[in-house]
Amino acid sequence: MSVTRESFGFMPDNTEIFKYIIENACGTEVHIITLGATLQSLFFADKNGVKRDVLLGFDTVEDYLEKSNYQGATVGPFCNRIGGASIDIGGKHYELVANEKGVTSLHSNGEFSFRPWKAIVPDADCVELSYVSPDGEGGFPGETKVQVLFRLSQDNKLSIRYHGVSTRDTFLNFTNHAYFNLNGYDAGDILGHTLRLNADEFTPVDELSIPTGGNLPVEGTPFDFRTAKPIGLEIGADHEQLKMTGGYDHNFKLADGPRELTEIGEAVSPESGIKMNIYTTLPAVQFYAGNFLNGKTGKAGKPMEKRSGFCLETQYFPDSPHHPEFPSCLFKAGEEYESETVYGFGLI
Ligand code: GLA
Repeated sequence: MSVTRESFGFMPDNTEIFKYIIENACGTEVHIITLGATLQSLFFADKNGVKRDVLLGFDTVEDYLEKSNYQGATVGPFCNRIGGASIDIGGKHYELVANEKGVTSLHSNGEFSFRPWKAIVPDADCVELSYVSPDGEGGFPGETKVQVLFRLSQDNKLSIRYHGVSTRDTFLNFTNHAYFNLNGYDAGDILGHTLRLNADEFTPVDELSIPTGGNLPVEGTPFDFRTAKPIGLEIGADHEQLKMTGGYDHNFKLADGPRELTEIGEAVSPESGIKMNIYTTLPAVQFYAGNFLNGKTGKAGKPMEKRSGFCLETQYFPDSPHHPEFPSCLFKAGEEYESETVYGFGLI
């Protein structure tokens, strides 16, 4: 195992951004940049032994700042959406940045995703990124300290552990927004990948992608991934919820609350032979099929077309601050948030 570091460029204020590369004995490489604690690349050898970079992303700091749809970024303090872009905690009302359609909060306006983080290398197989969000950033109460530990194992599992604590009561909901294409970032769409997701229910949303309340059974709907099927098989089906969001962009319920690390699904590309198993301690996951990707150029100047990557963003439920029926992610001042998500790679 080894960790190496190189310069990735500079922020507009001249802060240097670094890239850390964790490599294991199989030659699997995870590249993490300090801008947004972002997963920039992940190289894994396909069935023919040829390494493919299975993450969408960019080659420069400028591109991450100007063109990103959160490719690989750490998102916080509250990933996904909050309706009305405001929250109430202990009788106090907080206005957040309404960065989507001027109405809702999406990914906390990127507060965590486009800042420089600090990095240390605690061991030969991991990198720890940390960020201190000042009280009131993006409208959220409390100075919040966050650490994200990326660790690669010899058997090709990438573990992402999150730790957060705030000086005031606040909602904490972190995720990583990696877009995967198991054929490579420049290899066309992901509709032929198969997906299994161990979720009996999903969360219906309105036109603003805000949950309408509660969950629905996946049984008998295109949202049923309990047995693996191609992502493209029913993405165009005549289903109100798919039309609402232009393809899969929904939260799936995994559990009633946080639990021990559990395998929750598997994505497979028959073409490259690469499979990815997902494990998490969190109660939900957003499956997003890259419907809004629109051809912006990414790595090596290659366009990232619609559905050229998919995301499995492990999380608490979207808009949970307004939905008592969903598990709460309100953390008391000084109370510690902890979660772990693992993406494990192998061949079929
Ligand atoms: C999330 C959302 C999508 C989209 C992307 C960012 O996954 O669910 O609707 O906004 O982020 O483009």
